Amino acid sequence: MTLKLKVSVTMRPTSCRNRRASSSCFTFAFLLLLLNFCHIASIAGQKSESALTVVENTEGGGAEEEEMTVDEEEEEGELEVVKPTAEWQTLKPGQAVPAGSHVRLNLQTGQREVRLGEEQMKYRTQEHREQEEAQLSFSPEELKRAMKKIKEDLNTGRKDPEQQDSVASKFRPLEELKKDMAQLDMLVETDFQIMKRLLDQFNNSNSTTEQRLSILLELEYMVHQVDNAQTLCSMGGLQLILQGLNSSDFRLQESSAFVLGSALSSNPAVQVKAVESGALQTLLTSLATAEPLHVKKKVLFAVASLLRHFPYAQRHFLSHGGLQVLSELFKADGGGILRTRIVTMLYDLISEKELISQLGLDSALDASHDERVRQYSEVSLQGELLEKGWCRLVPQLLESTEHDFREKALRALLAMSPVCLDQYRSDSSLLGSLVSLRVQYEEMVQSEMIIGEENGYFSEIMELIDALQIKMK
Ligand SMILES: *[C@@H]1O[C@H](CO)[C@@H](O)[C@H](O)[C@H]1NC(C)=O
Ligand SMILES: *[C@@H]1O[C@H](CO)[C@@H](O)[C@H](O)[C@H]1NC(C)=O
Ligand SMILES: *[C@@H]1O[C@H](CO)[C@@H](O)[C@H](O)[C@H]1NC(C)=O
Repeated sequence: MTLKLKVSVTMRPTSCRNRRASSSCFTFAFLLLLLNFCHIASIAGQKSESALTVVENTEGGGAEEEEMTVDEEEEEGELEVVKPTAEWQTLKPGQAVPAGSHVRLNLQTGQREVRLGEEQMKYRTQEHREQEEAQLSFSPEELKRAMKKIKEDLNTGRKDPEQQDSVASKFRPLEELKKDMAQLDMLVETDFQIMKRLLDQFNNSNSTTEQRLSILLELEYMVHQVDNAQTLCSMGGLQLILQGLNSSDFRLQESSAFVLGSALSSNPAVQVKAVESGALQTLLTSLATAEPLHVKKKVLFAVASLLRHFPYAQRHFLSHGGLQVLSELFKADGGGILRTRIVTMLYDLISEKELISQLGLDSALDASHDERVRQYSEVSLQGELLEKGWCRLVPQLLESTEHDFREKALRALLAMSPVCLDQYRSDSSLLGSLVSLRVQYEEMVQSEMIIGEENGYFSEIMELIDALQIKMK
């Protein structure tokens, strides 16, 4: 791909009187260039060869005039000594003039004026002026050449020492410029460049686990942006993350799962790429084997992000024994945090399928909707839930002391009721739980009302209990 950049350089070449000044003029021009380039490169989203087109702006008349005006201003500020020119110029109070200058009083304005004396005028020959210009400033033509040179040097990284010597002798500041550019390059490093650097470091066999962990932390931050997450995939980062998930170091597993989950969240393109890369199998293995609770939590987060609104992945999750793995986790989790997350995930999956079929009741349907309905119809979630014993598992979450956990359990129980009702009815511990919870929440709703809260959180939970009890009658 070739990007064409048009850079309008409105530099007044002669305003750069000394080497330092011209260097900073260049720096400014290149800052503009770099900013433009990085901006466009980041839009294009990939590394691109650039073709720089420099268009010099020569409007504004003769350089000589400019030179002199600018000089005056510069010198005035610093030295308070006027540098006379061939033209008369007004002297301000307190300004000094060099020896040999010609000074007169303007009778109309009452101000003193100065210009070069006769001797100085003679000394300032054409040849001298050219020489001065060549040393201290660049003409637009030279600027253009210099830029081309830099571009070529940077692009080809040419090693011809003779060429480089001649470049260096003609355009002394080039080496400095390149240094400046490298620094600017660092300053305006794009997300693309950052991710490339991070992935390269992550993939470097010399990197320590600590370094990899901090890289994952940075990546996790970046992939919240949809574009960045997709860039991660196109750079082959997904494979690296999956390897991290497969690692024997549980800290790497945890951080990798975190990056993966964040990259997958609400990002269909990444969800598809992940399934294609075999992420589902790796995640399931990891879910079944991961040890500490906090690692399991992050892996579950990645699984939930992968399955969300993605019936194809859901179908494969079920056919690969996903619900079996989840029920092992559910049984092993005494604390209830993992149980709640699992139940919430199941509830979300049931709800999104429900929502799609409800939308189907509207008459205005498009083809993509039909396709979605078809794909969801292949996800036999409810049947699997019944078959894998979830009608008996979810009620256990009601035994938790956390209101939030109970609420999630009640919502899931209601969502599963179409297939689970028979089992609910024969579940004596569920019946008992509902009765005692109802008493408890009734009291709490009373207290809520005393403090003036009509439709508080506890009334909400009580409504869920009521709805479930009505279904079970
Ligand atoms: C790893 O480090 C060694 C020695 O410091 C070095 O020679 C080698 O090039 C490094 N490998 C990579 C992939 O950077
Ligand atoms: C990681 O490094 C290997 C070689 O060490 C290379 O083949 C692979 O492409 C690299 N992966 C990424 C994503 O940079
Ligand atoms: C994970 O490890 C297993 C065996 O240890 C291997 O078969 C599998 O290919 C690995 N997966 C990834 C994504 O590296």
